[in-house]
Amino acid sequence: MALLDAELRVRLIAAALDAQQYAYAPYSHYPVGAALLTSDGRIFTGCNVENAGYSGTICAERTAAVKAVSEGAQIFEAVVVITSNGVFPCGVCRQVLFEFGRKMWVIAADMMGNVVDECSLADLLPHGFGPKELDEGLNPDGKA
Ligand code: THU
Repeated sequence: MALLDAELRVRLIAAALDAQQYAYAPYSHYPVGAALLTSDGRIFTGCNVENAGYSGTICAERTAAVKAVSEGAQIFEAVVVITSNGVFPCGVCRQVLFEFGRKMWVIAADMMGNVVDECSLADLLPHGFGPKELDEGLNPDGKA
């Protein structure tokens, strides 16, 4: 989904900016907001939620992904991520997003809502491992 409708882009960026304000980031002081578009046209937002036991921290993108799946949306079309420096999602988030949208469009924007970079998830996670690869390994002859 390389061509994301202009109005949808604006809506996703606005939603991600809005979500960033709820970031709970007392340890990193690096608030992140995300807005995820699913195939049914819904937008799910997320922020990073840190934890005093650092490993319990969840990124904004995974917050949005978990919200989407838990509400019945399993096909991801696009995601906008807002950070102070407009960077792409971390490796763990790339993997989690890949499960539900290997072709999804990823937009990295800054806190002014300016798009810094964008590409497909397949570009961010080349040779990714997803449901298809697992299935092929479990059923090499194609018989499920
Ligand atoms: N973080 C995200 O929310 N998304 C990313 O893709 C990168 C990192 C969060 C996790 C942590 O709360 C803070 O940013 C610093 O790593």
